[in-house]
Amino acid sequence: MKPVPWLRKKAQTFMARKLQKLNKKKPEVPAIVERKGKTKHLIYTPYFKQIVRKNPKIIELFLEARKTKKDKMSRGNITITMLKKGSYNLLWRVDIGKKSFYVKEKLIQIWKEETGPTEFLTARKLKPILTPNSEIAKYHLGWKNQNANFLVTDFYELPSVSSHLTKIPKKLYNEFLEFKRAAKNELKIWDINEHNAFYDSKRGKIIVFDSMPPVQS
Ligand SMILES: Nc1ncnc2c1ncn2[C@@H]1O[C@H](COP(=O)(O)OP(=O)(O)O)[C@@H](O)[C@H]1O
Ligand SMILES: [Mg+2]
Repeated sequence: MKPVPWLRKKAQTFMARKLQKLNKKKPEVPAIVERKGKTKHLIYTPYFKQIVRKNPKIIELFLEARKTKKDKMSRGNITITMLKKGSYNLLWRVDIGKKSFYVKEKLIQIWKEETGPTEFLTARKLKPILTPNSEIAKYHLGWKNQNANFLVTDFYELPSVSSHLTKIPKKLYNEFLEFKRAAKNELKIWDINEHNAFYDSKRGKIIVFDSMPPVQS
C-alpha cells in the first residue's frame, strides 16, 4: 500500500517536533558560581544557595553567633555550635534540620591572603586524580572580602586518618598514598596529609580536605 502523502507529512512534522523537543537543552545547572571583584571573591554551589534561600534566618543567626562567640545557639531547626575559638581561626558546626555544615573562618588580622575560596578551588583541581576510594570533602562556599575569609563544607563526624593509622586497611591507605603522590607530582599540590583527611570505616573511604593551592615553581 502506498503511503498517503499528507499522512506521511504529518508524521514527519510530528517526529521533527518531538526531536526538537528532545534536543532542546535543559538549562545546565552550574557546578559552582564564582564572583570575583577587586577586594572580594565568592564561590558557592547552587545547592548551598538553595539552603540559604530556604533558611533565610541562617546568615543573621550565624553572624550573631560569630559576634557573641557563644558556645551554642539555637533557633527553630538551626543550631550553631562553636568548635574552636583559636587565635588564627574560628570553627563552627552549623546544623540545619538534619543537615550539618562545617564553617571555618581564618582571621583576617592574621591571614592576609584569601584561603576560603582558594581551598574550595584547590579541592576541585584534585577531582581528576582521585583514586577509587579517596574522596574530596563536599565544599559549599568560599568567601573573602576585606573583613572576612570563610569556608563552608559538609560536616564529617569522622576520625582523622592520622588518628586511625593502624586501623586503616593497607590497600586503602596505599591508595591514599598514591593519590597524595599524584597530587604532588602532577598538580604540585604538596600538602595532602593524614591530618587533613578523614577515615570513613563504614564506607571504606578516605576523605581529603584543607588542601592548599599548587606550589608555583
Ligand atoms: N568538614 C569537617 N567536618 C568536621 N570537622 C572538620 C571538618 N574539616 C575540618 N575539621 C576539623 O577541624 C580541624 C581543623 O580543620 P582544617 O580545615 O584542617 O583547619 P586548618 O586550616 O586550621 O588546618 C581538623 O583537623 C578537623 O579535626
Ligand atoms: Mg588542617
